[in-house]
Amino acid sequence: MYRLLRPLVFRLDAERAHRATIAALKLLPRRRPPSFDGALTTSIAGLGFPSPVGLAAGFDKDSEVAAAMLGLGFGFVEVGTLTPCPQDGNPKPRLFRLVEDQAVINRLGFNNRGQTAAIERLAFRDRSRGVVGVNIGANKDSADRIADYAAGVRAMGPLADYLAVNISSPNTPGLRDLQAGGELIELLAAVSEARLPGVPVFLKVAPDLAPGDHERIVRAAIDSGIDALIVANTTLSRPPLVARHAAEAGGLSGAPLRSLALDQLRAFRAASGGQMPLIAAGGIASAEDAWARIRAGASLVQLYSALVYHGPGLARRIATGLTDILRRKGIPSISDAVGTER
Ligand code: FNR
Repeated sequence: MYRLLRPLVFRLDAERAHRATIAALKLLPRRRPPSFDGALTTSIAGLGFPSPVGLAAGFDKDSEVAAAMLGLGFGFVEVGTLTPCPQDGNPKPRLFRLVEDQAVINRLGFNNRGQTAAIERLAFRDRSRGVVGVNIGANKDSADRIADYAAGVRAMGPLADYLAVNISSPNTPGLRDLQAGGELIELLAAVSEARLPGVPVFLKVAPDLAPGDHERIVRAAIDSGIDALIVANTTLSRPPLVARHAAEAGGLSGAPLRSLALDQLRAFRAASGGQMPLIAAGGIASAEDAWARIRAGASLVQLYSALVYHGPGLARRIATGLTDILRRKGIPSISDAVGTER
């Protein structure tokens, strides 16, 4: 079905196509999430996931279609990034498809209608439908970014199955500086003070890190009780690209991010010695990609860009593919495969 629709969708500018997709998803009749094979069940910090294949942040920034995406077969959905105040983001155009590279470049800049507007939608959701995490960020013009994160934790914690603290968007100037030593420790202390017991908090990092950063980030995360790291956000680096729009500024995602994101995951696995659960994102488009991340140490995986190229049935196809791989290899459960690469 998506193969037929794709040429039409691709005729629209990328941001229009995305808005049309969200509008269409809102009109879909409510479907109950599919039932997954029991071997795919896993957990992080006491939170259970029926499938390890999740929707990455940025697709459903304003928490409008989480139930629809769970119905399409995602094992969990991360909404956001939501900032305390609404903001428009960067001037358009700011979202680009790189079709020949199976990639996306975005410089959206946290366009969202703010946390207060999302609270209503999250408050009325049926929590039995599945896991919905809330990704939080800071406003571009905030005088105190750390205070924005603490406010986000307080406001969204009661409505979230987990929180993701996103300090890795390349499109808010200076945001990634929060990954640096002193600032990170201060941020994580503020998050730790604001958080509710029973709501896991994950930290989402950039793939553009220097040697030594991984150990430092893992240490700070463990010391402040962070429950998992999401590795990774979009990259500012530019592996060789061929498509039109390749020279656009912004964060690159999709297939060209795959090997960098896998390398970064391995570096975090090595730095943590398996002590910190990891969630992989970046260029995942198949069961084989997901399997490679799981073997490299990821307990869960997330995707976004591949949806643009492969359509909404992808999460379910990857889940089925993972079940087949487990069966073929005689491995009883997905959690038994985590970090088995070495
Ligand atoms: C993103 N991503 C993202 N991440 C985040 O933490 N907050 C956000 O608001 C967004 N927004 C966003 C918009 C668009 C258009 C894209 C393509 C991506 C990053 C996303 O969650 C993920 O980490 C990366 O895209 C890598 O995964 P994929 O896309 O290669 O599967």
